[in-house]
Amino acid sequence: MLIFCLCLLQMPRDVVSITTRQHSQDCRCLPDDNCWPTLHDWNTFNRSVNGRLIRIRPVGAVCHGREYNAALCAIAQNSTHDSLWRIEKPGALQSVTWETRPYRNRSCFIDTPRAIPCDQGRIPVYGVLAQTAQDIQEAVRFASFHNLHVAIRNTGHDGIGRSSGVGSFQINVNLLKEIQFMQEFVPQGGDKSEGSAVTIGAGVLGLEALAAGREHGVNMVTGTCSTVAASGGFLQGGGLGFLGPAYGIASDNALEFHVVTAKGDLVIANEYQNKDLFWALRGGGGGTFGVVVNTTIRTFPDVPAIHFLLTADLPRHPTRTSDADQAIWDITTELTNLLPVLKHKDNKTSAIIVPRFLEDRAVLEAHVLFVNTSDKDPVEKHLNMLHSALEAKGLSPAYKSELTRYPNLSAWLNIPRQMTGAAYGLIEGSVLISEDLFFSHNGTSHIMDVLSNLEYIVGDSVEILMSVGGQVKANKYTVDSALLPSWREAGLLLTIRRTLPTTSLTQIMVNSQMPMVRALQVPPLGSYYNVADIELPDSRRAFWGENYARLYSIKQVWDPDGLFIVRMAVGSEDWDDEGICRV
Ligand SMILES: Cc1cc2nc3c(=O)[nH]c(=O)nc-3n(C[C@H](O)[C@H](O)[C@H](O)COP(=O)(O)OP(=O)(O)OC[C@H]3O[C@@H](n4cnc5c(N)ncnc54)[C@H](O)[C@@H]3O)c2cc1C
Ligand SMILES: *[C@@H]1O[C@H](CO)[C@@H](O)[C@H](O)[C@H]1NC(C)=O
Ligand SMILES: *[C@@H]1O[C@H](CO)[C@@H](O)[C@H](O)[C@H]1NC(C)=O
Ligand SMILES: *[C@@H]1O[C@H](CO)[C@@H](O)[C@H](O)[C@H]1NC(C)=O
Ligand SMILES: *[C@@H]1O[C@H](CO)[C@@H](O)[C@H](O)[C@H]1NC(C)=O
Ligand SMILES: *[C@@H]1O[C@H](CO)[C@@H](O)[C@H](O)[C@H]1NC(C)=O
Ligand SMILES: *[C@@H]1O[C@H](CO)[C@@H](O)[C@H](O)[C@H]1NC(C)=O
Ligand SMILES: *[C@@H]1O[C@H](CO)[C@@H](O)[C@H](O)[C@H]1NC(C)=O
Ligand SMILES: *[C@@H]1O[C@H](CO)[C@@H](O)[C@H](O)[C@H]1NC(C)=O
Repeated sequence: MLIFCLCLLQMPRDVVSITTRQHSQDCRCLPDDNCWPTLHDWNTFNRSVNGRLIRIRPVGAVCHGREYNAALCAIAQNSTHDSLWRIEKPGALQSVTWETRPYRNRSCFIDTPRAIPCDQGRIPVYGVLAQTAQDIQEAVRFASFHNLHVAIRNTGHDGIGRSSGVGSFQINVNLLKEIQFMQEFVPQGGDKSEGSAVTIGAGVLGLEALAAGREHGVNMVTGTCSTVAASGGFLQGGGLGFLGPAYGIASDNALEFHVVTAKGDLVIANEYQNKDLFWALRGGGGGTFGVVVNTTIRTFPDVPAIHFLLTADLPRHPTRTSDADQAIWDITTELTNLLPVLKHKDNKTSAIIVPRFLEDRAVLEAHVLFVNTSDKDPVEKHLNMLHSALEAKGLSPAYKSELTRYPNLSAWLNIPRQMTGAAYGLIEGSVLISEDLFFSHNGTSHIMDVLSNLEYIVGDSVEILMSVGGQVKANKYTVDSALLPSWREAGLLLTIRRTLPTTSLTQIMVNSQMPMVRALQVPPLGSYYNVADIELPDSRRAFWGENYARLYSIKQVWDPDGLFIVRMAVGSEDWDDEGICRV
């Protein structure tokens, strides 16, 4: 099975120095400040968290200067692209971009010469590897008392640096791995069963939740990228996965949260108590309303499924526009044009189509998943139309495909995937496309016309994601949450991803690619908080629409002093871009 956790190639070459901060009490306390906790403070605190305080160094520190260690550096170099290895390392993120940007020459890289100093970049300086809610409570109280810059860190997948921060204090939730299944779940304070559910610790990865589910004959909505945590930033920002069209977006299926608030209290948020917090945690965005300890989410019976896989991998000339690119776009277009037909027949169907342009290859990976069906025939009929169309264009030799029946979803969802897509530079942006456009005559042709004619550079990829519609749409009438309301009208999410080779090339994405993709959808529907474009104009409207005002007021109730501030989030407009000083 192939890569979902795909990321991209080179490092940024841009250089910006850390600006000198005007110290004031409206700023966080940073390591060079007099207000920074003393060694004695840290040691006392360490005892209160059972010795789970760590000093954090960037994951590349073992490759530089006095910290150099040949054996450890070899392991780091060998493991750098391994998503799971990076999750385990508090001094790493999935993407190097947010370990460093914009402090590139004050950062640390695994693959630069030994003599180059290893500076901290955006990697937190201290952290707590929380194993209990109490560890988190102590950490929050300590951070609040000392006015520290908090970074809640789960898997480190966030695409705009929300799980790290310069001079920050990490609250690491990734070791919270409990998983408990229930046949009948009654939220605390309620009297009505919500049916079968599972409580998962904040650090449980999508793949871990699915593996446990298999043993219990159930599934849940997890990310297409299996190393994203199932209930951290993913679910709090919405949460798109293969089972979304069948069962709803991930946050629609959250029934209860245990949360540590900015005051350090441990509270329950569900339909019966702390309802405003419950509303906000479902779609309001991670890193903002508190530290989630665990989440109870719905589970679903492990029904049969049919999976269609299409791949292409064509040699490509690095500079000339090549035939390979054209072939990849032609196949992508034919397949995308088939999606409205497949979706119209069965709204539970989901798909992801990813063309990517590398130095010497153009590649395509596409999956279509048909949920709760064992009958291949109707699917095959449509796919034959695809194959004929591609044959007519002489493209049959360019791709491979297979249609497979699985006795249950678990059998497919648990196929091990390649985990070597981490550690590249990454910037991205996303645009919601309405069902109206998606289902309209020539709608997908029009979309593909625009996508295939954008300017691309090496390392770019496009993601055409059909994990909305169906139950996501139906939940408009049954789920009241902070989620951007226009998710209920969406037919696709389009994402552009790219490496960060230079600042000027970043401009292609900001000034040309994203505006052209956004222009496809009139009036605009919005964008995905979890796949955020760092330069998105009017981002609060795009991420939350009419829900923003209420979210802002809930933020003032639960975090009046702004302890939990992350980029482009609820309430972060009151702070500078790094969340260090109030503006
Ligand atoms: C390669 C890749 C593939 C992806 N695939 C998908 C996908 O298929 N579907 C999808 O919907 N999204 C996907 N995403 C986006 C993903 O949802 C976001 O990156 C998400 O923020 C990851 O959440 P995390 O908790 O695992 O990661 P982190 O980066 O550790 O955390 C993300 C944010 O949530 C906060 N947070 C994490 N845990 C908690 C907690 N317990 N309490 C409070 N705040 C918390 C952090 O502070 C941070 O702000 C993908 C991203 C990448 C890089
Ligand atoms: C915290 O205490 C533990 C156990 O005593 C110790 O191993 C660890 O090094 C301490 N952390 C720091 C940052 O001093
Ligand atoms: C490098 O990784 C490969 C595959 O994961 C492993 O077999 C090998 O032992 C590793 N080498 C080192 C030096 O860690
Ligand atoms: C970082 O780069 C900037 C701009 O080139 C330069 O002015 C600064 O001295 C550099 N800092 C370090 C620590 O190298
Ligand atoms: C969820 O967290 C709360 C608070 O720590 C705890 O009481 C509860 O036992 C946890 N649930 C599970 C299933 O671990
Ligand atoms: C799902 O399919 C697998 C593989 O055929 C099988 O081993 C497993 O028992 C099935 N699970 C259920 C719940 O039917
Ligand atoms: C799927 O949804 C579309 C639009 O939302 C609708 O027109 C179509 O009839 C639905 N298909 C099925 C099989 O329900
Ligand atoms: C699967 O389909 C059957 C009928 O074919 C239906 O009874 C059942 O409820 C469906 N299950 C799910 C989880 O959608
Ligand atoms: C739009 O659809 C018509 C009829 O289905 C077709 O002939 C035409 O080529 C399409 N236009 C585009 C731009 O795809």
